[in-house]
Amino acid sequence: MSERTPIVAGNWKMNKTLEPARELAGAVAEASDEVGDVELIVSPVGPYLRAVGRTMEGSDVGLAAQNVHWAESGAYTGEVSPTMLRDIGCSHAIIGHSERRQYFGETDVSVNRRARAALEHDLTAIICVGESLAERKGGDTELKIKLQVRAALSEVPRSLARNVIIAYEPLWAIGTGESATPEQAQDAHATIRQLMAGLYDQKLADTTRIIYGGSVKPHNIDGLIEQPDFDGALIGGASLQADSFLSIARSVQDYVG
Ligand code: 13P
Repeated sequence: MSERTPIVAGNWKMNKTLEPARELAGAVAEASDEVGDVELIVSPVGPYLRAVGRTMEGSDVGLAAQNVHWAESGAYTGEVSPTMLRDIGCSHAIIGHSERRQYFGETDVSVNRRARAALEHDLTAIICVGESLAERKGGDTELKIKLQVRAALSEVPRSLARNVIIAYEPLWAIGTGESATPEQAQDAHATIRQLMAGLYDQKLADTTRIIYGGSVKPHNIDGLIEQPDFDGALIGGASLQADSFLSIARSVQDYVG
């Protein structure tokens, strides 16, 4: 890693009811001072964002929505606008998670619209990209992630791209217990950074945080941290318990602190 502030983000997905969500958020907020060199983020389900944000009030923990719409308001049943998310204290939005692409028809075009709207409303966009197992086996990993990053950032000016975090999440590693190896993650992250330099410039590429997601656990974080283009993790399963989430955060803190 480098001068880029590392991120440890918990994507809680559709898990936790209200009280357990608040308990977890409270534990994360309480421990956040211990890991002062790490940017912590949690992402509960939409209806709990406000309550979780309140629980963490006074801490530096970021609050991420799991999705965001591109319109300000209107006839879009089931969606939430960036202004509404800002209103309730969100700082970040996860966009284009593979589960959204796989189960809810999210496309590169909609990911781009969501990303632009989020950024225009001062939400940091955590844009997720990653290849399937078939694409990896077919040697198409690089092509796939370049296509996804390029599409997601289409018409995003440099001034807004500074507020982008890219999450590399290979589909075959999500929820499977089989993390990418540190070398596989590094290769993908380096590809993304190089692409960012081409799309914008080297300075922007050097300051963009590129994080990894896919079966990150306390036992496999160490190898990832050592990779030069690894700037943190987007964690699913292991973010649902304060112990495992904070153990990963402490490992990152120990490395950079
Ligand atoms: P797991 O950590 O459960 O594999 O999930 C990763 C993920 O999808 C984070 O967004």
